[in-house]
Amino acid sequence: SAAEKGGYDYFMLKEIAEQPKAVADTLLGRIDVAGNLTLDEVRIPASVLREVDKVVIVACGTAYHAGMIAKYAIEHWTRIPCETELASEFRYRDPILDPRTLVIAISQSGETMDTLMALRHAREQGAKVLAICNTNGSTIPRESDAVLYTHAGPEVAVASTKAFLTQLVACYLVALYLGQVRGTKWGDEIQSVIRELSEIGTQVEQVLETMEPVRELARTLANKNTVLFLGRHVGFPVALEGALKLKELAYMHAEGFAAGELKHGPIALIEEDLPVVVVVPSPRGRSVLHDKIVSNIQEIRARGARTIVIAERGDETVAPYADHLIEIPATPTLLQPLVATVPLQVFACELATARGNEVDQPRNLAKSVTVE
Ligand code: G6P
Repeated sequence: SAAEKGGYDYFMLKEIAEQPKAVADTLLGRIDVAGNLTLDEVRIPASVLREVDKVVIVACGTAYHAGMIAKYAIEHWTRIPCETELASEFRYRDPILDPRTLVIAISQSGETMDTLMALRHAREQGAKVLAICNTNGSTIPRESDAVLYTHAGPEVAVASTKAFLTQLVACYLVALYLGQVRGTKWGDEIQSVIRELSEIGTQVEQVLETMEPVRELARTLANKNTVLFLGRHVGFPVALEGALKLKELAYMHAEGFAAGELKHGPIALIEEDLPVVVVVPSPRGRSVLHDKIVSNIQEIRARGARTIVIAERGDETVAPYADHLIEIPATPTLLQPLVATVPLQVFACELATARGNEVDQPRNLAKSVTVE
């Protein structure tokens, strides 16, 4: 009913708007006044976490993209090798697992069969499993050694939005916590990122307030057949998520690429007026990446692409090459997905509406897939 949708036309719009609160709720009570993480609810003793020598993340769909981003954060802040794998592929390749492996299973519903079978396999091999889950008491957390709940509240729209942002927050918390208990050389960075993370809801709010041009742009693209998405570093999984959203909602051909791969194939797809969304990393921080992506944008634009650029506010080097510029607030590089994903959600939702699609219940999809 209209009341359930809180005055929005679709649950998805309501859930997109709820993201600042979902993010804040997921942080609530997990950072103490001194700026340290307090994840006592994660019932894996610090002594065990100190001995972990490998992290393996398993998930499906949007949750898998959160897991891809988590890999960058975990390896950078903890120096523990981390791999992220599609849950449906995981157990069939006979993965190497032992009691020093920490497996993180990410699932909004807690009922996805592929993810459940992956975690069962991991536990049989003696690995410890930590679930990141949005649904209290669901099967995946029940069968795990520990759980860190995301506090997105119920997510009704099939295409995941607020659950994704809270999965990212939970992944950052776990990565930072591992760094904290293991005392890595990134101590100062961890402290400052914890501070920035605790403010991030405000930045997500700022993004939501500036989305009208994104909606206008989406409406002009309703007759296109293909949209490409490019990103690098954590912007790569963001590009994949932007493409997934467009497939799910607008039923358009959409693909995400790592920008560095462009020259190894995808650049052949570029033609006159093809919309290409590019996620640009902060010009501060890893500036090498920034320069490389700016030259990627020049390359595709020279071949006629219509460039839709998501970049940090005030990034002047990239602006001249953007046919459409979508500005997002400055964040630490690793946290950028929390703000960069939001315009892509709005973009896909508006394109779906413009194409007359059912936003909350896309064809052929289910909110939670309980078969393998
Ligand atoms: C389904 C949904 C996706 C979701 C995926 C994983 O395919 O349509 O939106 O990302 O399952 O769901 P989970 O509940 O495990 O996060």
